[in-house]
Amino acid sequence: MKFFEGCTTLITGASSGLGAEFARQLAPYARGMILVARRRERLDELAGELRRIHSGLDVRTYGADLSDEGQREGLVAWLEKEGIAIDFLINNAGLGDHGKFESGEWRRVKSMLDVNIVALTHLTHLLIPSMLKSGRAAVLNVSSVASFFPLPNMAVYSATKAYVTSFSEALAMELKPRGITVTALCPGPVPTEFFDTATRESELDMSDHFEAFPAFVVTPQEAVTAGLRAVALDRARVIPGPLLAASVAVALVIPFFIIRRILAWKADTI
Ligand SMILES: NC(=O)c1ccc[n+]([C@@H]2O[C@H](COP(=O)([O-])OP(=O)(O)OC[C@H]3O[C@@H](n4cnc5c(N)ncnc54)[C@H](OP(=O)(O)O)[C@@H]3O)[C@@H](O)[C@H]2O)c1
Repeated sequence: MKFFEGCTTLITGASSGLGAEFARQLAPYARGMILVARRRERLDELAGELRRIHSGLDVRTYGADLSDEGQREGLVAWLEKEGIAIDFLINNAGLGDHGKFESGEWRRVKSMLDVNIVALTHLTHLLIPSMLKSGRAAVLNVSSVASFFPLPNMAVYSATKAYVTSFSEALAMELKPRGITVTALCPGPVPTEFFDTATRESELDMSDHFEAFPAFVVTPQEAVTAGLRAVALDRARVIPGPLLAASVAVALVIPFFIIRRILAWKADTI
C-alpha cells in the first residue's frame, strides 16, 4: 500500500459498495480524495467518517450523474478550478440489469451504456493529459468476470464489461511507457447494492448468484485489496479470488462452443 502514499485519487461510484471500500482502504495513504456519485449525502457521510479517522486527508465530495456528458465536463472543470491534480483515477461507477433483453427498459439499457462505457472512457480521456504531466499515475477500471463471458440475461451488462477489459488492456500497453499504469479489476459476485439495483421487479432475485456460485463470492474488502495490489504491481488485469481466477484461466482455453453450451444451459441461474 506504500505505492499509494501521497496520491490524489478520484473515485467514481463512491456512495456504496466497492467505491466506498476503495475510499476506506486508500484513506490511510492518500493525500487527497475526490468522491463522486449521485447520492451526495452518502458521499458526505463517508467523507465525514474518513476525516474523523485520518486528519491529514483532504476529502472532497462531488455530486454528479455521470451518464450526463455536461456533468462529467463540469466535474473536470471544477477539479481544474480547485487546482486538484488527479494521479489515481478509479472508474468504479457502474450498474447492471438482469433479465431478458427484449423486456428490459430502454432507459436502463442506455444508462448501462452511458455509465459503464461512455462515462469511464470520457473521464479517462479528460484526465489522462494532466496525469501524463505528473510523471507517475494510475487508472483502475472496475470491470467484471462477466467481461470474459457473454452472459444470457445480462447481455448488455456483460458486453459493457467486455469493452472495459479490452479498453483497459489496450490503454495499459499505450500508457505504460509513459508512466501510467492501467488495470482492469474483474470481480465475480461481490455482496453490494449492485444486485438490488440489477434485479428487475418481477424477475429472479439476483442474490441467487451467491447460492449458485458460493465458492466464487469475495467480500468487497477482498475485491478492493486485490485491485489495489494489482495496481501497485502494475498488472493489466486481476480476478479476485484464487478459485475464480483459476476457473476463468481454464475456461478461457476451452473451445468456445462448449462454453456457449454451458452458458445457455445455466441461463436461468445466472
Ligand atoms: N457487486 C458485484 O458482484 C460486481 C461484480 C463485478 C463487477 N462489479 C462492478 O463493480 C462496480 C461497483 O459496483 P458495486 O458492486 O459497488 O455496486 P453498487 O453498490 O450498486 O455501487 C454502484 C456505484 O455506482 C454509482 N453510480 C451508478 N450510476 C451512476 C451514475 N449515473 N452517476 C454516478 N454514479 C453512478 C452508484 O452511486 P449513486 O447511485 O449514488 O449515483 C454507486 O456508488 C460496478 O462497475 C460494477 O459493475 C460489481
